[in-house]
Amino acid sequence: MLQQLGNGVSVTGCGSAKLTNHLDNHMLSKIVDTSDEWIATRTGIRQRHIAGEDDCLKTLAAEAAQEAITMAGLAPIDIDLIILATSTPDDLFGSACQVQAELGAATAVAFDLTAACSGFVFAMVTAAQFIRTGVYQNVVVIGADLLSRWTDWSDRRTCVLFGDGAGAVVMQASERDRLLGFELRSDGALNDCLKLTYQSQFKELADDAAVQHGTFQPITMNGREVYKFAVKRVPEVIEKALFRAGLATNDIDWLLLHQANQRILDAVAERLHIPSERVVSNMAHHGNTSAASIPIALDEVVRAGKVKVGDTIAASGFGAGLTWGAAIFEWG
Ligand code: ACO
Repeated sequence: MLQQLGNGVSVTGCGSAKLTNHLDNHMLSKIVDTSDEWIATRTGIRQRHIAGEDDCLKTLAAEAAQEAITMAGLAPIDIDLIILATSTPDDLFGSACQVQAELGAATAVAFDLTAACSGFVFAMVTAAQFIRTGVYQNVVVIGADLLSRWTDWSDRRTCVLFGDGAGAVVMQASERDRLLGFELRSDGALNDCLKLTYQSQFKELADDAAVQHGTFQPITMNGREVYKFAVKRVPEVIEKALFRAGLATNDIDWLLLHQANQRILDAVAERLHIPSERVVSNMAHHGNTSAASIPIALDEVVRAGKVKVGDTIAASGFGAGLTWGAAIFEWG
């Protein structure tokens, strides 16, 4: 039965997991031929958090979700739907149900969504469709990734970029719609730019029976192509989402981009004429945490008291697929 709480969408809570292990640029320079100076200048990254021996995706995701649920003034039992955006599940069949169990969100339906570093924005927009149709009222959207599991730690071109993390928001049905506009895009023709692919190994089981029995291979990336893609496509998709919202770039209080690289953030902000004080950046401490980067960055600025209720946030994710997207929403 459809309920009548209003079919608007509000983002009412956020949270993030606290990882204790860190790996700074000096430590990395003992692993590969690099330096703090090279990494900081080219990327803005000084350190990243790495999952410890006892950490797993489901517990970090549940920790972030619980914080968001508490901020929203809800309990896990109030949650109708959990969407876990991840490319690095504990279980290839999906980790969202394990998160549901960990939270004790007994009545929630839960599923994974994979769209790499765009996953969190894609999941927010997916959640909004369920709320707008009146099917669900309280939704948890989590972005969580442990890319350290799939990083080639001998490849200095990629291993300096990534970190592990989990962040989450609660999205609720509301009278007024505070998800003002969105736009999502994909281009599989550019898939080769950034990959974590399955490599099959054909294995004979018997004379007339054979199976593919391989595994996934570490991340490969064409950094220059990804950079060019991001600085061109991200401003475009934000402008499209703003157009749908009936807003202009000077209506944005906070530019909340996927934390891939400080140079990408600076270039996008410059193209959109958004001053640096309105650009959220935490990659110096976290590196690129893929689907987790946007909700972690949001959680930090909200808890620091910088983002106020009613502030307009332009969030944009971009990454493997290739995928990219933007969502314009008012906080609170
Ligand atoms: N330390 C020292 N030297 C390095 C390192 C390193 N960690 N990595 C590369 N180099 C060297 C290269 O070997 C090369 O040396 P050479 O000229 O002797 O061959 C030189 O530095 C320049 O290499 P480039 O790859 O051309 O470096 P570039 O200036 O393009 O910077 C970077 C690389 C930072 C990855 C850049 O391309 C970039 O920011 N791209 C975007 C990547 C990105 O953000 N990816 C993630 C987005 S999607 C997602 O989140 C999953």
